[in-house]
Amino acid sequence: METVILPTAEEVGEMAARVVADVVRRKPTAVIGLATGSSPLGIYTSLQARVERGELDFSRVRAFALDEYVGLAASHPESYHSVIDRTVTRPLGMDRALVHVPDGTAPDLAAACRHYEHMIEDAGGVDVQILGIGANGHIGFNEPTSSLASRTRIKTLTPRTREDNARFFGSLDKVPTHCLTQGLGTIMRARQAVLVAQGAGKATAIAAAVEGPVSAMCPASVLQFHEHATIVIDDDAAAGLKLASYYKHTFASKPGWQRV
Ligand code: F6R
Repeated sequence: METVILPTAEEVGEMAARVVADVVRRKPTAVIGLATGSSPLGIYTSLQARVERGELDFSRVRAFALDEYVGLAASHPESYHSVIDRTVTRPLGMDRALVHVPDGTAPDLAAACRHYEHMIEDAGGVDVQILGIGANGHIGFNEPTSSLASRTRIKTLTPRTREDNARFFGSLDKVPTHCLTQGLGTIMRARQAVLVAQGAGKATAIAAAVEGPVSAMCPASVLQFHEHATIVIDDDAAAGLKLASYYKHTFASKPGWQRV
């Protein structure tokens, strides 16, 4: 696991976008894993700028979102179908038919989860997975004590996650109680993962994920077992890391070609 600490949230987005851009440049039909929430927005903005400058083409890129709320119509502005369309598919000029989000309104949710896993496999797996992290250490919506081997399934959101996401819905009671989420086992199959975090509110979760024991109590800590995971964070999110100066030294000492 490589941890890259940068001074500002903007630089975090820029660096993580570089990781994704490199994959798409090498493979124009790449499969990318998409996170929602605030953390990855800087990545998407930075990728959009590259598309607008004509440096990058997402028209053949395929994508799978990590998660979706249960019971929210795809047309609801806060469904991840809508959020992904608004913040990723349209800005990057992607083909809607190639962008997938779990179906949280399916009559048989368990079957929808199995189908989603099959679609990822049929696409050849995820080339690069973008991740944010919850204040409680979740990735996707794999809340603490999620099986480290889990696959796409229904999860109950913790009160903490619902409170954190109430800002998108205007009030807590409007936040759905359940979601479909790729499992930790699903995420771990991605060939590369890049997790971004900004701000002091993520410092405890980042410390547990990077330097804590691998434990279902901090689901993101499973990334310690990933062969190509990069954690890109700002100074505030790095505040709880014991070895922060070591990570900075390691990154600064790298020759340019080896960075991330
Ligand atoms: C949502 C997802 C979540 C978020 C996490 C952080 O698709 O994957 O794990 O990344 O809840 O959310 P923000 O970025 O809004 O703090």
